[in-house]
Parts: sequence; C-alpha cells; structure tokens
Amino acid sequence: MKHLFIRKSIAQLHAEMESDNRLRRILGPVRLTSLGIGCIIGAGIFVITGQAAHDKAGPAIMVSFAVAGLACVFAALCYAEFASLTPVAGSAYTYAYATLGELAAWIIGWDLLLEYTIASSAVAHGWSQYLQEILGTFMQLPHAISKAPFDYSPELGRIVATGSILDLPAILVTATLTVILVLGIRESAGFNAVMVAIKLAVVLFVIVVGAFYVNPANWKPFAPYGWTGVSLFGKTIFGKSGAGGEPLGALAGAAIIFFAYIGFDSVSTHAEEARNPRRDVPIGILTSLLICTVLYFAVAAVLTGMVPYDRINIDAPIADAFRQAGLPRAHLLISIGAVVGITSVLLVLMLSQPRVMLAMARDGLVPPNVFGSVHPRFRTPWISQIVMGCVVATLAGFLPLRILAELVNIGTLLAFVVVCAAVLVLRATHPHAQRPFRVPFSPLVPILGILSSLLLMCSLPKENWLRLLVWLLVGLTVYFSYGRTHSALRNATQQPALPGEVNAK
Ligand code: ALA
Repeated sequence: MKHLFIRKSIAQLHAEMESDNRLRRILGPVRLTSLGIGCIIGAGIFVITGQAAHDKAGPAIMVSFAVAGLACVFAALCYAEFASLTPVAGSAYTYAYATLGELAAWIIGWDLLLEYTIASSAVAHGWSQYLQEILGTFMQLPHAISKAPFDYSPELGRIVATGSILDLPAILVTATLTVILVLGIRESAGFNAVMVAIKLAVVLFVIVVGAFYVNPANWKPFAPYGWTGVSLFGKTIFGKSGAGGEPLGALAGAAIIFFAYIGFDSVSTHAEEARNPRRDVPIGILTSLLICTVLYFAVAAVLTGMVPYDRINIDAPIADAFRQAGLPRAHLLISIGAVVGITSVLLVLMLSQPRVMLAMARDGLVPPNVFGSVHPRFRTPWISQIVMGCVVATLAGFLPLRILAELVNIGTLLAFVVVCAAVLVLRATHPHAQRPFRVPFSPLVPILGILSSLLLMCSLPKENWLRLLVWLLVGLTVYFSYGRTHSALRNATQQPALPGEVNAK
C-alpha cells in the first residue's frame, strides 16, 4: 500500500535534470508567454464561443468568459507556484508525484494525456471548419470528407448522423504538425511565434473593426437562458435544462467556454526547456492567461453585439458575423487568421502531450523504451510524438468537436482541482521549501480554485462524468498491471525533503 503514496524527492527531480537524455534549454519569458498564447487562443474563441452563445448563454457569454477566466486565474496561480518549486517537465503530473504520491501522480498524468490528446483532436476540427470557410470562397469540399460522421443536436437532445464519413482536413493537419514536431522544438517555437503574432493581429482586428458594427439591441435579452446552469450527475439543480437534459445558462456556458482557456498550463510542461524556469514559467503562465482573458471578453462582447445570439453561426461564428455585417473581405481575412491561430494551438498541444509522457516514462510508469526515448539528433520525444499524432488524427477524423471539447474540459478541471489541492498539501507538509513564486492569499486562492473548478465540472452534461470515469478506470487498470510494478521509485521508502528545508531546520 505504501508504494501507492511514495513521493519523488525534489532533489531527485533536479538531479535527473542534469542527466544527458534532456531537452534543450532555449525558452525565455517572451517565448514561454508566446507558447502560452499560442496554445490558448484557438478553436475556443473562434468556434466554441458561437456554440456556447447560441445554445447555452446568449450575450451572457461575456459573463461566462469572466467566470471561466477567474477559475483559471486561481488555478494558474497554483500552477505558477508549483512550476517555480519544481521546474521540470511533466507539469501537474510531476507536481503531484512530489507531493501527493505515485498513485495521485499517475491519475493526473493519465488525465493530462486525455486532456492534450482530446483537446488536439477538438482543435483540429476547429481548424478544419475555418479552412472550409476559406475554401468555400473558391470551391466546396465534398460533404463526405468535411466533418465527423455524427454530432450531438441540442435541438433534438440526441446524437444525429451528419451524412459525412470523416473530417479529412483535420486528419491532414494533424499529420503535418506531427512531422514538424518530430523535427525539433527550436523550429517549432519559432514557427509558433509567427503564428501567434498573426492571430493576435486578427483578434485585435475583430475587436476594433467589429466594435463599429455592434448594435446594443442585440444584447437584449442579456441572459436568455438564465444566469446559472448547474447539474449534479445529470440532474439540473440550478437553472434551465436543454432538450437532452443538459444544463443551460451563463454558468453552463462558462463550463463549455472554459475550453478557450485551456493551454496556459501547457507552459508548465516546458519548464525543462526554459532557460530560467523558476522565474520565467510563472511569468509565462500568468501573462498569457491575462492577455487572453481581456481579449476574449472583448471578442464575446463584439460577437454578441454584431449578431443576435440565436442567429450566430455555430461552425465559424466570428468570420460569419463579419459576413452578416456585409464585410466579405473581413470574413476571408478572419478565416485565414483563425486557421493560422488554431494551427499554433494544435502545435503547442501536440508538443505538450509527449512531454508528459516522457516524464511518466522516465519514472517507469509507462514503457521507457518507447515513450522515454529522445531522438539522438532532433532531441525530441519522437516515438510518443508519432503515436500521439496517429491517435489524434483518428479521433479528429471521426468524433465531433462538441463531444471532444466537453470531455477535455472535465479532464482539465479535474487536473486543476488536484493542482490546487496539492498546493495546500505542500504548504502544510513542506512549509519551508523555496518558493520563488507564492500563491497570494493562500489558502483562500487554492480553495477558490478547487470550488470554482468543481462548480464548472457540475455545469457540464452528465455524459462527461461517465466518460471521465471510464478513462480513469482504464488508467487505474494500466497502473496496477504495469506502472506499479515497473515504477522506478518502487523500492524507495525515504520521504523527501525540499530544497531550503534542510537549512530551515
Ligand atoms: N484553448 C484552446 C483553444 O481554444 C484549446 O483552441
């Protein structure tokens, strides 16, 4: 039993960082922030905002953005404290290993694999939808290869066939990015910076130009679905329900739109590639999140001000708002910017997952020969990268964005709960450890982080709890049949001390 709670010492994490099989340390604060923004602004704002405003929140989607953003800020502060304390690859997985023990680390690592893999698939769909907007100006892609074969219909409250067979553009973009990522982080981070600049320019264009086309009458009624939308395991306890029993309202909108914020945590997966991780990773996490929160609120205000919420297009809402406003050139420009922006999200998400896998492989919890191998020339975790590329391409080809996005949200919110809880645990068990960045107002902020994440989890349709549970059960089976027996720490019994504690005693 005690092995399940075995903790990895921070000293050990630092020693591992000195070994040969390491990634290159090339990222400074600007590039880390750029990676964060690269991963945050994407399909969420360009696609899911439309679905959430149309189906769940109406103009109150602005409130949804504020609520989801606040929950993320609480969690981001906790991530930042951890990242400064244990600046190594693996993100929440590594933090959990150093604080809560091996089993918790496994659960969170497994959960992160789900988050990054499914998020990549969802984002690949968003990419495909905007690509088809651009292509639509010149030609029509055959319907059979344009989207996933089925989708959830909020009007009917059930899954319906779309008449398509697969989403071919989503598969192709995944394959292309996999090749780029195998070739190396330096090239990838440079590529990312260019795409981030383009996408920020497009988002600012949407806000500034769109503001001239806002009709305040479109903001009334402001919250047509109500302000709440909370359910407990399928039973709505606050607010309205949709045709399929799913919660509706501004909070339910926040649970969906939360997807748009996912990605700031990916900055922490790059700690091993940061030049000064203790200082720069917290800067990267918080700056990227704050910039995105402000931009999102403004975009949501403009979108719902330009188009009545029930006439918002759910496939390419932002570009379509400009078409409805009689600005076809702007429509094309935004679609191109969205494709570029979403590409950078996909790039960073696909960059992050193999790094979590790498951390787990180094600990022996997944086969190290396969997932721990760093390419001798490119210095990238190439095998996991290729495996991930294949899985993402398959999911993106056949599952709809709506279902994928909800599943990502619940998995990510669970990771937030664990990270916030781990900050509290570590403050109690290792009070003197060096924390270059400290969460302000602890324990209040971590507790608010836990509560707000749980609230958003409860605002998601019930199937997501079920899917999350199945994923975790599969994970536990893998852990007890492989990870536990192969764990590199299995025979260690000493409880670790954190840097600074020895001196403090
Ligand atoms: N936040 C990312 C996006 O919106 C996942 O695409």
